[in-house]
Amino acid sequence: MRVLVVGSGGREHALCWAISASPLLTKLWCAPGNPGIAAVAECVSIGVLDIPALVAFALENRIDLVLPGPEAPLVAGITDAMERVGIACFGPSAAAAELEGSKTFTKQVADAAGIPTAKWERFEDAEAAKEFVRRRGAPIVIKADGLAAGKGVVVAETEAQAIEAIRDFMQDGTLGVAGAAVVIEECLVGEEASFFALCDGTSAIALGAAQDHKRVGDGDIGPNTGGMGAYSPTPALSTAMEADIMARFIRPTLAEMASRGAPFRGILFAGLMITADGPKLIEYNVRFGDPECQCLMLRLNSDLLAALVAAIYGELAHFDLCWHECCAVAVTMAAEGYPANPRKHTIIQGTEAAANIPGACVFHAGTDVLDGNLVANGGRVLTICATGPSIAAARDTAYRAVDQLNWAQGFCRRDIAWRALVHKTEQTDR
Ligand code: AMP
Ligand code: GLY
Repeated sequence: MRVLVVGSGGREHALCWAISASPLLTKLWCAPGNPGIAAVAECVSIGVLDIPALVAFALENRIDLVLPGPEAPLVAGITDAMERVGIACFGPSAAAAELEGSKTFTKQVADAAGIPTAKWERFEDAEAAKEFVRRRGAPIVIKADGLAAGKGVVVAETEAQAIEAIRDFMQDGTLGVAGAAVVIEECLVGEEASFFALCDGTSAIALGAAQDHKRVGDGDIGPNTGGMGAYSPTPALSTAMEADIMARFIRPTLAEMASRGAPFRGILFAGLMITADGPKLIEYNVRFGDPECQCLMLRLNSDLLAALVAAIYGELAHFDLCWHECCAVAVTMAAEGYPANPRKHTIIQGTEAAANIPGACVFHAGTDVLDGNLVANGGRVLTICATGPSIAAARDTAYRAVDQLNWAQGFCRRDIAWRALVHKTEQTDR
């Protein structure tokens, strides 16, 4: 098969790495890719949102399967555009990608399908939204309705914070059209976990659970980021709970989407809060998480490409995935100044030494090559991953690999997976 992966992050490097091991593969391309991806795929310099150019490339190169990594091209309709010219694309249509593109849409689907989620209301009028906040009080969650690259959610501890968020999104237009309407939600309390399912429109199979760290600083403090690290599996979401999530969240969502004429094919990524009343849906994403994907790919012991093909042909009901008996930890190496203002073009050394640590694996994200040197060219620059018999062992290996890097202007969190290790101690104490 001739395959085109779309994206340039650590997630896409992990996907290319997994696909490159498939006996079904004849040639792999990645648009636009990065220097790490170039070791396993031919990189083509087309941006992820240049859908006409991606379609033209796919036609010219007789691509059999396109795999978009990020949400933006999915929401912009890459799957529909590829299918119009007869090219298979693993990902939801633009209509089904609304599960990530619109908070309101997701809440409506969740309510219609009976999926546990926070109580909510939608507002197009800022004064009505503020009045609602004054009546309900804090804590309360304010969400811009549209896609806002992780900047559209404020968990307000006080009424004043909530009102400021409404003013920012709806009146000052800080997020553009994405903030023209807001969803205001009940604040859920608990531990967060991510759950992934591979879907073919009617059937789904579990890809497992993971947990990520969104805040930039140790101890989960500081600004939100795309993800500073992840681990899988997570004690917050046991294997027994996975079956429950499939039965009460994923399958009803597929049934509801199909009944709306927008069957969901692709990766359904449920952001869950594990509350005292059980898991509740925070949000859906329509793609793999980054860096959760890196952990899942390291644990997967099946042919990813064969699974994607089964999903494209609607044959997942008869497909089984195998997993390595291991845990995986991913540590994001970010450029100094991330997330506000990452410093570019600093030289990174030691990636080979990091990858040579037994059990470790280095995925590239925002890297580039300048004058023969590997340099930083983005916020999240590398994902240093490792597997091991336990989360603690995988984490130790990942940090040993991190310590091989020679990159003074890069940084990482030093406490990835701390919650899993606290869980472990609690279990041992009992
Ligand atoms: P989202 O973009 O919807 O994933 O929200 C970003 C983050 O805000 C989530 O990962 C949660 O930490 C938090 N969050 C979102 N909705 C809620 C809620 N209803 N209650 C508590 N925290 C929330
Ligand atoms: N790591 C979270 C995400 O990819 O959305």
